[in-house]
Amino acid sequence: MALLDVRDLTVTFQTNDGPVNAVNGLSFAVDTHETLAIVGESGSGKSQTAFAIMGLLARNGGAAGQALFDGTDLLTLSPRQLNRVRANQIAMIFQDPMTSLNPYMRVSDQMAEVLQLHRGLSKRDAVAEAAQMLDAVRIPDAKARIGMYPHEFSGGMRQRIMIAMALLCRPRLLIADEPTTALDVTVQAQIMQLLADIREEFGTAVILITHDLGIVAGFCDRTLVLYGGQIMEEGPTQAIFDDPSHPYTSGLLKAVPRLDRDDADLLTIAGEPPDMSHLPAGCPFSPRCDWVRDECPGLKPPLVPFAADRRRACHVAAEEITR
Ligand SMILES: Nc1ncnc2c1ncn2[C@@H]1O[C@H](COP(=O)(O)OP(=O)(O)OP(=O)(O)O)[C@@H](O)[C@H]1O
Ligand SMILES: [Mg+2]
Repeated sequence: MALLDVRDLTVTFQTNDGPVNAVNGLSFAVDTHETLAIVGESGSGKSQTAFAIMGLLARNGGAAGQALFDGTDLLTLSPRQLNRVRANQIAMIFQDPMTSLNPYMRVSDQMAEVLQLHRGLSKRDAVAEAAQMLDAVRIPDAKARIGMYPHEFSGGMRQRIMIAMALLCRPRLLIADEPTTALDVTVQAQIMQLLADIREEFGTAVILITHDLGIVAGFCDRTLVLYGGQIMEEGPTQAIFDDPSHPYTSGLLKAVPRLDRDDADLLTIAGEPPDMSHLPAGCPFSPRCDWVRDECPGLKPPLVPFAADRRRACHVAAEEITR
């Protein structure tokens, strides 16, 4: 049984301009110890997929379908039951640590609070364990620095603190939503290495959400490519990189810097991301697709298995799509 099994997940927001269909019938699974990447441009539904699973949707949003965690459907839990899952089983880290850290509280107090509340530790034991966790995420001189306030740390260090907080209750699944986007390239690489180490050390399954296909290679076992809140393709990360089977993936890959190519050749995909309140009846990517055919705008391609462990939703034959 998969650790997380998402079935036909739909997220809809009610707005004054009508419903916004942010996630449209998403099905995917994450195994224990597995790392899954969810990639796609801004607005493709990555964060709302995670928020729906975590029960963190904005008030005007609603989720349908199933999100089975260890067999329990998270979408049916009461707020109290969900709190328990979030405290002990699934943790999430966000792009900007300052939105999750309290600027007026010492790091020691914020971290200890979590352990006192959820594990019933004494303050003293909680601070000691929190310092150990800061050590594990390679904060130098953790014992002394744990008494500092969030603003006294650099951006990269704050992201490490967030990761340490997320790990305090030893979650089985860690959802990282753009964890390195706000950081410069060197620090980005350090944080990704840290996440990789932590995954090994704690055996945590990871969902990495990013718009940057470049950081996915070498880190994620499998990759899910989202567009318009739908899966365009899914498969082993290496296979998707070597041989994309969907025009959208091909476009995303052309935007990834490569050593063997001049950065001047980097291409972005022409056209605008889709309007989620007026998606085409057919393939959402069809208005921007270089391979588009007559049937594409009106007829939605089904998501079908092909090759080893891969799925794709496209009317054009996979062999015709080049990188
Ligand atoms: N509260 C809301 N009300 C209406 N629409 C919303 C709301 N929250 C999100 N949306 C819409 O849902 C869609 C998906 O948003 P989501 O946050 O999942 O994008 P994303 O893929 O995470 O993008 P990014 O890379 O920019 O974070 C977007 O079109 C967004 O405008
Ligand atoms: Mg997002």
